[in-house]
Amino acid sequence: MAQPSPSALDSALSRRTFLQSTSAAAVAGSLAGATVQGQTAGRSGVLRVGLIGCGGRGTGAAQQALLADSDARLVAVGDAFADRLDGCLETLKQQPDVAAKVEVPREHRYVGFDAYQKVIAQSDVVLLATPPHFRPMHVKAAIAAGKHVFAEKPVAVDALGVRSVLATCEEAKRKGLSVVSGLCLRYNYGFQELMKRVHAGAIGEVLSLQANDFRGTIWVKPRQPGQSDMEYQMRNWYYFTWLSGDFNVEQHVHFLDVCAWAMQGQYPVSAFGLGGRQQRTGAEYGNIYDHHSVIYEYASGVKLHAYCRQQSGLRGDVSAHVVGAKGTAEISSRTLAIKGAEPWAYREKQNNHYQTEHDELFSAIRAGKPINNGDYMARSTLMAIMGRMATYTGQQITWEQALNSKEDLTPDGYTWDSKPPPSPIAVPGVTKLG
Ligand SMILES: NC(=O)c1ccc[n+]([C@@H]2O[C@H](COP(=O)([O-])OP(=O)(O)OC[C@H]3O[C@@H](n4cnc5c(N)ncnc54)[C@H](O)[C@@H]3O)[C@@H](O)[C@H]2O)c1
Repeated sequence: MAQPSPSALDSALSRRTFLQSTSAAAVAGSLAGATVQGQTAGRSGVLRVGLIGCGGRGTGAAQQALLADSDARLVAVGDAFADRLDGCLETLKQQPDVAAKVEVPREHRYVGFDAYQKVIAQSDVVLLATPPHFRPMHVKAAIAAGKHVFAEKPVAVDALGVRSVLATCEEAKRKGLSVVSGLCLRYNYGFQELMKRVHAGAIGEVLSLQANDFRGTIWVKPRQPGQSDMEYQMRNWYYFTWLSGDFNVEQHVHFLDVCAWAMQGQYPVSAFGLGGRQQRTGAEYGNIYDHHSVIYEYASGVKLHAYCRQQSGLRGDVSAHVVGAKGTAEISSRTLAIKGAEPWAYREKQNNHYQTEHDELFSAIRAGKPINNGDYMARSTLMAIMGRMATYTGQQITWEQALNSKEDLTPDGYTWDSKPPPSPIAVPGVTKLG
């Protein structure tokens, strides 16, 4: 396995340095004082797209980016692993609608932990689709270099990362750069129509919410002979909290964000709940849980009951339900409806929200009217992390505690021989809030 350059080590150090120097208060201050850049010079000509994280979602995002703009070209790609990078390019070259726009010479295919820096240097727009641990570092480097960003969800695995992303997104506003989030339901026309009605009072004052994410199990990559701890965990990243944030962060963030949207950007003041591992108990399942159940409470006393589970052979349901004084909003990919005093249902054909988010990103760049999804993408990520803190510790966690948490999920370096952070399975009542 190729050894990373010293700059990869610097990345680990700079992440920790940033985390130590960016307090929640500093972020709050920067948010309060930030000016929002409305209009910048539009762009014409070729837009060079770079992809960091060439897995399933990254490959899809690259295709969507290339379809979004007639003059977009994929010019650089980076991945921790050469086989993932090769597989991605192979897939893209087999797509007749984008194959001709894949112009990635061998010298612009970067492998290793420091690949992101080289991809960013070659690009105008970067697509960030690695496991979420790396997102704060990658968003920060891209914005520092003056590049537009598409950032897959979630955008961090710990509060230190959230604070970093909040600060970086303020920098993006000042620089007139777009940051579009992979919280794709925000780009779904049906969801948008429903939310317009909820915000206009169709269900009356919101009294309670429920978010369900009951799913089956997903891929798992058992350890192979000869793999270092770091390589094994990077391959099997979903199951390690330091890389994925746990699945209530990695997956459930979509519908927690839907609730934040329904609440017009209000976030809960506290969370408590329970969670554990019943089916996914083997070592190949790292240290994440397979179920979480969290009660979030808002300042008004309104509660959101949030359930998520990944176990096989059980009933599935991915949806949100918002109960208001005059009716209920039923929200899922299948059903978008309001029941009660002002009944309504979305009956139009659904748009492909994965495509729409890229269409809007590239239109924004062309028009010089930057989009910045930084606030909700970071805060909804923190909401999910707060839920994990509550289920891991068994304690009630306030928003302020979550935002100010010093939990540090940084490894001792980013090389294949570096030591991943300790990954004990959390035991409520024993595990303490970091
Ligand atoms: N919006 C959505 O609906 C949606 C759907 C699927 C995945 N996602 C998100 O996309 C991200 C990736 O998920 P995926 O399913 O594509 O996973 P994946 O494992 O298929 O791809 C991740 C890729 O990133 C690479 N990688 C890991 N660390 C890296 C680093 N430091 N630098 C460069 N490359 C690195 C991996 O080798 C892998 O190829 C996750 O955050 C996930 O939550 C979002």
